[in-house]
Amino acid sequence: MTTAAAAGRVRHLYVHLPFCAHRCGYCDFVTVVGRRGSHGSYVDALIGELGLERNLLAPDLETVFLGGGTPTFTDAQELERLLSALPAGREVTVEANPETVTAAVAKQLRSCGVNRVSLGAQSFQPELLRVLERRAGPDAVRSAFYYLRDASFENISVDLLYGIPGQSPSDLDRDLSEALALGPEHLSCYELEAKPGTRFTYRHGAELSRQADAMETYFERVVATLTASGYRWYETANFCLGPDRAGGRDLRARHNLGYWLGRDYLGIGLGAVSTIEGVRRRNTPRLQAYVTAVTAGAPPPRELELLDGHVRSRERLMLGLRLDDPLLLEGVASAIDRTALGRMERLGLVCQTGGSGGPALMLTRRGRMLGGAVTAELLA
Ligand SMILES: C[S@@+](CC[C@H](N)C(=O)[O-])C[C@H]1O[C@@H](n2cnc3c(N)ncnc32)[C@H](O)[C@@H]1O
Ligand code: SF4
Repeated sequence: MTTAAAAGRVRHLYVHLPFCAHRCGYCDFVTVVGRRGSHGSYVDALIGELGLERNLLAPDLETVFLGGGTPTFTDAQELERLLSALPAGREVTVEANPETVTAAVAKQLRSCGVNRVSLGAQSFQPELLRVLERRAGPDAVRSAFYYLRDASFENISVDLLYGIPGQSPSDLDRDLSEALALGPEHLSCYELEAKPGTRFTYRHGAELSRQADAMETYFERVVATLTASGYRWYETANFCLGPDRAGGRDLRARHNLGYWLGRDYLGIGLGAVSTIEGVRRRNTPRLQAYVTAVTAGAPPPRELELLDGHVRSRERLMLGLRLDDPLLLEGVASAIDRTALGRMERLGLVCQTGGSGGPALMLTRRGRMLGGAVTAELLA
């Protein structure tokens, strides 16, 4: 298959904005510190790359997601120019760091068609935020949230981390109740991953191993607290207001749902990944190489990876079982070890269901708690 076969069919667009005010010790995303003078040329390059790829996009996009980096650290005029050049989407999300969200920024995002913001709170405990080397304290997190509400955002997500060096279970309980007090429509709660090679891992190694032993307990607390507060645990690390509180809206993150359901998506920008018709491509993470190529009218340097049927089935299985909806067996059957499936069923970790769509598979609550370990067992 070629990407030509996908022309006009891709319904999810990711746009990477790599600039950050500083680099948090635990982060290994593709970021560029500062470089205020380069924001304009970078936005030009993004618009150029979009021009090269636009034929792949469907006329009606389901989602547009501006991730980072810190999209809201991008020069305000440049961000506005970019937003007005992007195609419309039903869900348009921007990732924001609390200290960059002012009343004016919140209004600007809303007036540019953004209808969902993902706010990187991480914690509400000053000491833990210091350990994470975050710029925003708890008051800045709350202010940012209220600026977004005042600007009429009706879909705000809050990101929290757990397993932070020095964190105790009661710190986590406090973080969860502070986040819940804001009444976000969506919460992402990630276990802090010690990324090899980051200075954070070097500095906090021993404490990170201690926290790793407590991860399962933290995870159970997160799930128990949020589900008891009326949130739907719809993906391993993601929660949205459940039917009783959502007023008829489906508040799952539609963009990420696209990834988890194995849909094609186009990513533009530094280090951005696209998956289109069985080909995964990864743009260069080098700013100069990216801008130079696209400014000259060429695609950026990229790595290509061909995803054969077996790899695609395995990915579908691994991602699909993260969700609370049953995963149709059709298309993933070849990736499943049938003996392991029987064993996991007998252990009460997996169940098979049948519906109008055909036979399907899902993890039980206990299976979801063990998550990746169960999926790894199931893989043929
Ligand atoms: C693309 S990142 C950064 C967004 C934004 N710049 C910020 O820092 O809030 C999106 C989310 O990934 C999560 N994240 C970043 N580094 C992580 C790590 N090492 N382990 C687990 N989650 C991480 C954080 O919760 C963060 O809000
Ligand atoms: S602000 Fe976000 S993207 Fe930037 S370095 Fe920190 S965690 Fe990474």
